[in-house]
Amino acid sequence: MKTSLNWDGEAVIAVDQRALPGEYRLLRLASVDELIGAIRTLAIRGAPAIGLAGALGVALSARLHAAAEDALTEAVTADADRIAHARPTAVNLEWGVRRALGRLDDGPEAVLAEALAMIEEDTATNRAAARRAADLVLSLTDRRPLRLLTHCNTGRLATAAGGTALGAILELAERGCVEEVLVDETRPLLQGSRLTAWELSEAAVPHRICVDSAAAAAMARGMVDCVLVGADRITANGDVANKIGTYGLAVAAAHHGIPFLVVAPESTWDRSLPEGSAIIVEERDPTEVTHCAGTAVAPAGAGVYNPAFDVTPTSLVTATVSEERTVLRPGTALPGTSAGPTAATPLSARIERLLLAFPDHPRPGIVFRDLAGVYSQPGLLAELADHVTRHFDGGFDRVLAVEARGFLLGAALSVRANVPLTLARKPGKLPGPVHGAEYELEYGTDRLEIQEGAIASGERVLCVDDLLATGGTLSAAAALVEAGGAQVAGLAVAVALAGLGGSERLSRYPLLVLHEVKETDGEGEQA
Ligand code: MRU
Repeated sequence: MKTSLNWDGEAVIAVDQRALPGEYRLLRLASVDELIGAIRTLAIRGAPAIGLAGALGVALSARLHAAAEDALTEAVTADADRIAHARPTAVNLEWGVRRALGRLDDGPEAVLAEALAMIEEDTATNRAAARRAADLVLSLTDRRPLRLLTHCNTGRLATAAGGTALGAILELAERGCVEEVLVDETRPLLQGSRLTAWELSEAAVPHRICVDSAAAAAMARGMVDCVLVGADRITANGDVANKIGTYGLAVAAAHHGIPFLVVAPESTWDRSLPEGSAIIVEERDPTEVTHCAGTAVAPAGAGVYNPAFDVTPTSLVTATVSEERTVLRPGTALPGTSAGPTAATPLSARIERLLLAFPDHPRPGIVFRDLAGVYSQPGLLAELADHVTRHFDGGFDRVLAVEARGFLLGAALSVRANVPLTLARKPGKLPGPVHGAEYELEYGTDRLEIQEGAIASGERVLCVDDLLATGGTLSAAAALVEAGGAQVAGLAVAVALAGLGGSERLSRYPLLVLHEVKETDGEGEQA
């Protein structure tokens, strides 16, 4: 497959996106400065594409400094840093640079091999994400053929090949499901009308260029069944930075009840940032606004606000789709899914369906609530973790997971929210000095322990368990947190048994229950 970025043995070859649609021209970039210039001037643009260009730039630098021997690492690292900062918003640039740089100890050829492997991977990644997104669009909509709306350019030019959101649109078109694509012009640099319209013409997909400011009106007139966009950075809570104008589209789509989908590779997720306000939004040259094709279209000296991106809050995003997973806004319902809960039905209903009750286990009179079905459902644990992370909105620095099954949701949460994990265990399990807290059971007492120094004073800790019954275990976990001078940011459980006093006992903490089992009065229960 032809890719938008290549290597000719000595230099980076890239499609010059500034020249399209008038001219299809290839650029040969033989120095790091030329490569940085191409990224800054948007000759190479689109988050995945600049990430790959960044990796190739590091390979170029390693090759150019190959003779420097002892000074190689220093010189290439300095170049890598300059490349990574060529533009600030798309996290893919930094990702691509760091990944290629990670091979420098193995020599310039290894760096190049890594960059070329990334180009190949990107092609497969986009294919997988596009198929997954196309399936989801078909589940979220019932009109056929579809009228889709997209913004900016997320096609083969913005990636190595295939495209992200535009890849999904092309996939839907291949399946014969597209009536028309409305292509936002994407002011001020017109990536939509210049590049997306060019790619859609190339693929013979029916489309019309839509004035940016007409998109909401098109939705109001019932001309749009689904909006698909890409992303430049997605934060831990799911907020999405994308081309300026995306936020407005999301607001309008929400107002009109139209699904708003973000399609982007996993490399676009930046879990080090809790939420979108921490994203640096690139502001570009005023002349991009005051001039059109070199001619002034505004009074000389007019002030300009020209941010290249905006941030769409996660609450407005129906789903974010990558090559690996679909993060669906909790509560999003798929029409026509009468066959029972599916990936899009509310989490509580899905847990309910998978939760089994075993009477008289482990002893007579106890009903054992078994979550094994939840854990065996591919992707569901990750969705639970996504939901909990979003609910607490970045407000915790550590997860404390309670033995034994609390470890599962706890570990998933720690990965999802990118925060450290501490295990609270039964007595005698942890090595070294420990702190403990006793708690009462219906038939005696038990104790939870954590290692000394495991939680720093002042940290905000989220305590997690699989099941809440009387609340004894989680109160002990909370007591352990507070005894060390840390703060309980909240408590999260997959399942709570109503009527056993658990939530009342824990009422001084923010408590998130993903599914409540109501009919438990009078039963002795445990997990
Ligand atoms: O400024 P650009 O053209 O590099 O913008 C980045 C983008 O291409 C978009 O924001 C796009 O929607 C996400 S990247 C496929």
